[in-house]
Amino acid sequence: MASITASDVREIEIGFDTDPARSMSLRADAYTEPKWAQADLQGIFARTWQWICHVEKLTAPGGHVSATVAGMPIAVVRDRSGTLRAFCNVCKHRAHELLKGSGTTRSIVCPCHAWLYGLDGSLRAARRADRMPTFDKSGICLDQVPVEEFGGMVYVNLDTTAGPLSEHAGDLAADIARWAPDVAGLTHAERLTYDVRSNWKNLIDNFLECYHCHIAHREFVDLVDMDTYEVKTHGIWSNHFTRAGLHGNAAYDVSGGNGQRPRRVVALAQHLPAPLPGPRQLHGVPGRPGGPDRTLATWDFFLGTPELTEAEAQSVKYIDDVLQVQDITLVESVQRGVSTTAFDQGRIVCDAGGSGLSEHGVHHFHGLVLDACRTLAGKDATCPSR
Ligand code: FES
Ligand SMILES: [Fe+2]
Repeated sequence: MASITASDVREIEIGFDTDPARSMSLRADAYTEPKWAQADLQGIFARTWQWICHVEKLTAPGGHVSATVAGMPIAVVRDRSGTLRAFCNVCKHRAHELLKGSGTTRSIVCPCHAWLYGLDGSLRAARRADRMPTFDKSGICLDQVPVEEFGGMVYVNLDTTAGPLSEHAGDLAADIARWAPDVAGLTHAERLTYDVRSNWKNLIDNFLECYHCHIAHREFVDLVDMDTYEVKTHGIWSNHFTRAGLHGNAAYDVSGGNGQRPRRVVALAQHLPAPLPGPRQLHGVPGRPGGPDRTLATWDFFLGTPELTEAEAQSVKYIDDVLQVQDITLVESVQRGVSTTAFDQGRIVCDAGGSGLSEHGVHHFHGLVLDACRTLAGKDATCPSR
């Protein structure tokens, strides 16, 4: 059942305008109230394609990865015929979790009473229940959810009516193929995790503009050529594009780099391939909401080999010790501010050229959030001004 109504949506979109130059941000309640945190889970995380892992973990038959999406335990497996499948990771006997972590397996055995499922999710054996004349295992199968390999990564969607990610994403696959053509050949090398005292949307807002960069990221504005920084929005995603800095910088050594133009892609509720200048690397940064004022963020680094070179280690260290400290300080302060009576919403600051210093990407994201909330609340939730 929907946790929000049409009139709830009208309240948080007061001040939002389809023209970013006239628009205010989402209202503060969307960042602080449990009702909106629940709506985000139901209307966004449970209805959009969510990143699970790099394809390398699911190449061989029997490969499996477990994760939690919008509170639902999920297991993704490669079955014996090579088909990728995703299931609710919940036993049909008495609901014990089935697969844990990642690895390879020949079948799915419940750790509680040892019911045994095939890699297609069908129940193959139920200890002792097989002797019961009234027990028919042929009708028992794990709940399947849509799963898709996209741009070298694996995604699931809890909404069985959602349609393929490739249809939702427009030109995103071609864009990733153009700027990060070797994604599928990279390997997981490092994970950074952060428990951030902020609503997940604050983290995304922060990623979506570099208006704060000259103020908060002295090293980053040295690392890239800010004069070339631009942000473009496309359907459910946006990208950031900038040339690498051409001189020595305060962040880390980029002299071993290939001169690529760093860019990053942010889709609804995800932060996707995001090469930085210097050594070949790619990182994905999903943020999972842990409540209205908490986000569990993980940065995963995919490199040429699992061992970091000196230059790669330097760039990871810069992100962990410098960039993340700066951004987390910002978003946690913002979260404290939006939780006070001194703030309802703020003006979107943008420019017609779509520069990195413009907040039109934030505005685009807020529009997507509102669209998702409107869909969740029902079709009558359309704001008269839109
Ligand atoms: S809960 Fe899985 S076999 Fe009993
Ligand atoms: Fe930042």
